[in-house]
Amino acid sequence: MKALVLCGGSGTRLRPFSYSMPKQLMPVANRPVVEHVLENIRALGVDDVGVIVGDRAPEISALLGDGSRLGLRITYIPQEQPLGLAHCVSLARDFLGDDDFVMYLGDNMLPQGVADAAEEFRRLRPQAQVVVHKVPDPRAFGVAEVDPDGRVTRLVEKPERPRTDLALTGVYFFTPAIHRAIAKIEPSARGELEITDAIQQLVTDGATVRAREYTGYWKDTGRVEDVLDCNRELLTAVRRDVAGQVDAESVLIGQVVVEPGASVVCSRIVGPAIVGAGSVVAHSEVGPYTSIGRDCRLTDTRVDHSIVLDGASVSKVPSLRGSLIGRSAAVSSADGGVLHHRLVVGDHTQVEVAA
Ligand code: TTP
Repeated sequence: MKALVLCGGSGTRLRPFSYSMPKQLMPVANRPVVEHVLENIRALGVDDVGVIVGDRAPEISALLGDGSRLGLRITYIPQEQPLGLAHCVSLARDFLGDDDFVMYLGDNMLPQGVADAAEEFRRLRPQAQVVVHKVPDPRAFGVAEVDPDGRVTRLVEKPERPRTDLALTGVYFFTPAIHRAIAKIEPSARGELEITDAIQQLVTDGATVRAREYTGYWKDTGRVEDVLDCNRELLTAVRRDVAGQVDAESVLIGQVVVEPGASVVCSRIVGPAIVGAGSVVAHSEVGPYTSIGRDCRLTDTRVDHSIVLDGASVSKVPSLRGSLIGRSAAVSSADGGVLHHRLVVGDHTQVEVAA
């Protein structure tokens, strides 16, 4: 079996971050989402991976290289425009050949892994298998209607009145039958070749399409809220590991990671939390549920339930919560009893100030 990981797309929902980084590189628990994805693929015993890349290809290939660091062989497949998930499969036709493959959206997090689904696909080998997850409100998702034997009878994209609560996650298993189905479909109203339409085409043609339920945590990290939620979830699994410097005036409570070269001075870190390599946290309170990237500077600041990306600095900010601070961003408060907020805010940025 091969793998196809989708790292193109436009990432409009993750602006302003997606202006300067591919969303698949957004770190959760200080590791890019796509590395979590590739780790799950490696766990299936799959090492031949095609990665679809759009205009942010250089950053993705700079991180992943030839894949050997992750025990994989990576082939990059350029997509000039994000013309849909099924378009990605057709671009990868030469790479995939006549092999079965797992298709994995590069922004999807399923930390409990998809080994059970892969085992079922290999054992029963339906023409296609989707991985579904029960959600309270399925109207924003592709929804699978499934018979008692686990066979998909119909797929509906964002139904107004969903007939089941089974949302399609970003993981799919395919035999080469999917290529014939894609050849039959037309672009949707939004101009994309939809993978849901291709799978529905298989169902219409009488092929066996199965649905396998994934019961663990699932998040499509398409929006800031999702990234923060996912960060909180992944941090619950970190274990205390203090390799950096922590002075005698500081207190670490619970599951705290202080990476090599980081230093914590006169501060209180409440786990779960990570302080990334080379970062300095001084006279501050960090956590819980907070990831500080590499080479950050936090001074006289309190931050919790947040992510601070590499090279950012935060100083003299009394309380930050639920925040995502971009790479090399600087957040500070003015000296001397200033009563006004001063904001230099880029396009599509969201700021909430205390009343
Ligand atoms: P989406 O999140 O559905 O699309 P998007 O990246 O354009 O995001 P937004 O809606 O915020 O604008 O894509 C799911 C995954 O598939 C994501 O990792 C990007 C990738 N993708 C491609 O590689 N090529 C494509 O043509 C599309 C539509 C998505």
